[in-house]
Amino acid sequence: MTYALVVVANRLPVDVTVEEDGSTSWSRSPGGLVSALEPVMQAADGAWVGWAGKPDVDVEPFDGDGMRLVPVALSEDEVRDYYEGFSNDTLWPLCHDVISPPEFHRRWWDAYRKVNRRFAEAAAAQAAEGGTVWVQDYQLQLVPAMLREIRPDLRIGYFHHIPFPPLEIFAQLPWRRQVVEGLLGADLIGFQRAGDAANFVRVVRRLTDLTTKGQVVHCPGAEGAPGREVRAAAFPISIDSARFDALARRDDVRARAREIRRDLGDPRVLLLGVDRLDYTKGIRHRIKAYGELLEEGRLDVPDAALVQVASPSRENVEAYQQLREEVELLVGRINGEHGQIGSAAIYYLHHSYPPEEMAALYLAADVMLVTSLRDGMNLVAKEFVATCTDERGVLVLSEFTGAADELGGAIMVNPHDIDGMKDAIERAVHMDAPEQRRRMRKLRRRVLHDDVARWSERFLSFLMDDPPHALAGRGDPGLSEPMTGRAL
Ligand code: G6P
Repeated sequence: MTYALVVVANRLPVDVTVEEDGSTSWSRSPGGLVSALEPVMQAADGAWVGWAGKPDVDVEPFDGDGMRLVPVALSEDEVRDYYEGFSNDTLWPLCHDVISPPEFHRRWWDAYRKVNRRFAEAAAAQAAEGGTVWVQDYQLQLVPAMLREIRPDLRIGYFHHIPFPPLEIFAQLPWRRQVVEGLLGADLIGFQRAGDAANFVRVVRRLTDLTTKGQVVHCPGAEGAPGREVRAAAFPISIDSARFDALARRDDVRARAREIRRDLGDPRVLLLGVDRLDYTKGIRHRIKAYGELLEEGRLDVPDAALVQVASPSRENVEAYQQLREEVELLVGRINGEHGQIGSAAIYYLHHSYPPEEMAALYLAADVMLVTSLRDGMNLVAKEFVATCTDERGVLVLSEFTGAADELGGAIMVNPHDIDGMKDAIERAVHMDAPEQRRRMRKLRRRVLHDDVARWSERFLSFLMDDPPHALAGRGDPGLSEPMTGRAL
């Protein structure tokens, strides 16, 4: 059996548990991507190729949630070199403004190539003749070209969920050319923002001999064979907005939100941060600004409280371990100075929570703080907005997120500007109800309309409606102009 639509992502949309006797069981891990793609996959005979999240899990493909799930096994060394190493200690910091210095190791690159080939082969084995394969994210940038080499009949899409860096930064990568050529195996390369697509096209122009017109790259065919066109464009990702809206209307979720506020001692103003514990998220900057507001008496405990959910992430990577130390030291210091018996200044939670609890937290909060130093999109900002069904609550949002291009109703901040951030937080805390409503209405219109289903429909229709790859007979190559967005 082969499949008309194959999604290839580093992670499968299910979590594996390995029992003591070596047997495996699976549970659903309902990320945004899977909820978007599930209906499309079910309608289209879909397969999902991905890693189970634990080393050495080598099991046969199986059916789950109306799609074929195809696990790709990674050894412990490969998890270290391909996932923790090249993906998360080379590419991740490189794509996020080198906030943490990227490490370049040839052994990691070798593992990245080898594992990308394994994903490409797995996808090639699942895809139907003339089918569509959609490759996801920075861990798999070589897959499009590897796949095209094995299966030239396929239509291949790639979506980059994180920022694509400016040429000056990307050029640091010793294997920059191979990565660009890997991506150019796709017919359509999607980015979060117009600026990311523009960065990519500039990189192509400077690092290859290929010609470009607008956002279209012309790849000549080998030995007289017809060439191909590769298009780059922005497709800002979103969330399952209706799901968060519905959660926020549930009686049990609303009761839980009231309970959270009560348990925190009913502060007049509850501030909230929700992030993976990642150095790109600006958690330290945010906490510093909040600490200074307390210091200066512009906020007081127990009048104000900050809940910071920092979910564990990539815990074997040193930069993440170091960040955890720094954040915990800072939280401890501020709580020591400003906390009281029964009322902390910061409630720091190093956990992950199910969507119901997240919705209750969003509902309970007065001010949501999203202060990333660099972020492809930031879905937390959109989840908060989708949850604010009563049109109260204020979003403070970093200019350096993809979401800032879309969420004009937020209070925008530069997280490096601590004084500016303090003023913005104070403004948010004191914002009157009519202004909150006006801003939230605008935000909600956008988030409820542009949900993740529209995102995937838009990408896939762009990919599939495109006439066949050959250059001959093509219409206007300027078709793929990126969505316009507010430049930073
Ligand atoms: C970002 C990336 C995803 C990744 C997620 C969680 O959102 O764009 O590709 O899956 O972080 O990171 P992890 O390393 O746990 O998969």
